[in-house]
Amino acid sequence: MTGLAIRGLRRRFGGVAAVDGVDLDVPAGAVTALIGPNGAGKTTLFHCVTGLDRLDGGTVTLAGRDLTGLAPHARARAGLAWTFQRIELFAGLTVAENARVGAENRRGRPLVAGLLGLPDPRRATVGAAVGLVLERLGLAAVADVPAGTLPTGTMRLVELARALAAEPTALLLDEPASGLDDRQIVRLADVLRTLAADGLAVLLVEHDLRFIRAVADTAHLMIAGRVEASGRPDDVLATPLAHDVYAGED
Ligand SMILES: Nc1ncnc2c1ncn2[C@@H]1O[C@H](COP(=O)(O)OP(=O)(O)OP(=O)(O)O)[C@@H](O)[C@H]1O
Ligand SMILES: [Mg+2]
Repeated sequence: MTGLAIRGLRRRFGGVAAVDGVDLDVPAGAVTALIGPNGAGKTTLFHCVTGLDRLDGGTVTLAGRDLTGLAPHARARAGLAWTFQRIELFAGLTVAENARVGAENRRGRPLVAGLLGLPDPRRATVGAAVGLVLERLGLAAVADVPAGTLPTGTMRLVELARALAAEPTALLLDEPASGLDDRQIVRLADVLRTLAADGLAVLLVEHDLRFIRAVADTAHLMIAGRVEASGRPDDVLATPLAHDVYAGED
């Protein structure tokens, strides 16, 4: 398969099985959502996939290539990009400079052509790629502003710009809608749909159910380290398990 394949993933912290044998496909050309209550293990799974945390069992492959055991930077070079639940940016660098850090991870992979709207994406320079990503995410006006001075929602978009500037084939986002205003959420949904249509494999960890319904093709409900329900977002959110988790929301 062309996207990301997670098989038998396990991670324990002392007596807690934070991720307890998870199989998950994140196909190219689609947005896959991972939902579930606080402490379900979503971020832990995410860190095991990026290589930021070690795993106790299982494998991670991207387009058939085994990433298990590779360091995060090697996974990034293999085409994986991610943003964090707790924003991690170079606060003193400008928005454009932060995005450029991502662009410098490029290894000759074609640009995400649909997003950037280029006839021959390979011709784009790093500078041009950064400019186009910033424009697409509505960040052009703050390109020269230090990232650390921006509101939370805008900082999240800067993280996304950095991830996209690396021209990944798989993108992992941990609560990207958190802190965004309504206009930014609409823009983010539009960008994620465009990226998926252009062939990117997108894995989204998210609590905002409206956003999930708007953007995800498939949802997986994770509870206590295990995936308990999978399917179309509306179907998964209609299960009794999801009702228990999201009682009072949506
Ligand atoms: N470094 C760690 N050391 C010990 N326990 C941890 C560590 N990281 C996570 N855990 C535990 O693993 C479980 C899963 O946590 P995780 O952060 O992955 O959940 P989550 O689904 O991302 O939750 P949230 O929706 O609140 O972000 C929790 O019980 C948590 O306390
Ligand atoms: Mg989390």
